Amino acid sequence: MKLLILGAGGQLGGTFADLQGHDVVSLARRDVDVTNHDAVLDAVRTTRPDVLVNCTAYNDVDGAEDDAATALTVNALAVRSMAAAAAQAAATLVHYSTDFVFDGEGARPYDEADRARPVSVYGCSKLLGEWFAQDAPRWYVLRVESLFGGRQARSSVDKIVSALREGRETPVFMDRVVTPSYVIDVRDATMGLLAGEKGSGLYHCVNSGQGTWADVGRHLAQAIGADPSLLRLTSVRDVALRARRPVYCALSNERLAAALGAPLPTWQDAVERYLGVLAAQT
Ligand SMILES: NC(=O)c1ccc[n+]([C@@H]2O[C@H](COP(=O)([O-])OP(=O)(O)OC[C@H]3O[C@@H](n4cnc5c(N)ncnc54)[C@H](OP(=O)(O)O)[C@@H]3O)[C@@H](O)[C@H]2O)c1
Repeated sequence: MKLLILGAGGQLGGTFADLQGHDVVSLARRDVDVTNHDAVLDAVRTTRPDVLVNCTAYNDVDGAEDDAATALTVNALAVRSMAAAAAQAAATLVHYSTDFVFDGEGARPYDEADRARPVSVYGCSKLLGEWFAQDAPRWYVLRVESLFGGRQARSSVDKIVSALREGRETPVFMDRVVTPSYVIDVRDATMGLLAGEKGSGLYHCVNSGQGTWADVGRHLAQAIGADPSLLRLTSVRDVALRARRPVYCALSNERLAAALGAPLPTWQDAVERYLGVLAAQT
């Protein structure tokens, strides 16, 4: 299978470079600015991939409140260009979205049938991107959340681990419920869907389970033998952030599990594997 990765310099995009057994063409922002419609069409026309994987995003959730135009251009209009390019090349489009399309007022993991109701400009821009992706002849929209495990090591998990290791206090939300997800598992699940010829669809592509960031912090502290009292419990409501955050945002991956024939590993298993990778690097 030939894959063209856009946004290859990012956390998730970078993981596709290590894929074995496939022809992977990785393009970063310096190679293709996805807000340039013709550049996207040219890249796909020249590469002729079976699958176009969009790992680009404007991910600055707070910044998007003041710069909606950039958020909409990258997260939505560029996806429209990719869907057009995929149609011209008869390629499948894989597009990643987010838990931020939900309002976070639920009390059980959101599934794909739950109504999207974004509460931020970022969430709106990502939802619009989901809709544009569906203009491709064959498409997968995969909602991910709280990613960790990229080479850049700049995720919330990395920040908590660094602070705990250095004996620094670190704030963790005790009420924001998430399903942290390992980029390697997201990539492998993506490949599983593509190999399975399941047809187009929307999937929650996350590790299994849920937890608050305090739960994640405690799990990390225990795993690395750090002092859990360094975790300073805070509430989403007590922190002044430019954009509103959905509070309860665990995602159910049952539909994905049914498509793949097995559930993704739990987030606890995933963070332990990631800690193993970090340990092997030191
Ligand atoms: N990170 C999370 O926790 C999270 C949560 C929910 C959903 N998601 C979604 O998951 C996907 C992957 O996220 P990620 O964490 O891997 O993101 P990331 O690390 O921020 O990577 C995004 C990449 O997009 C590139 N990019 C931005 N604007 C571009 C443009 N105009 N043209 C070309 N490239 C451009 C960035 O390039 P530069 O490096 O040059 O800026 C960056 O390499 C995204 O769809 C994101 O919305 C992520």
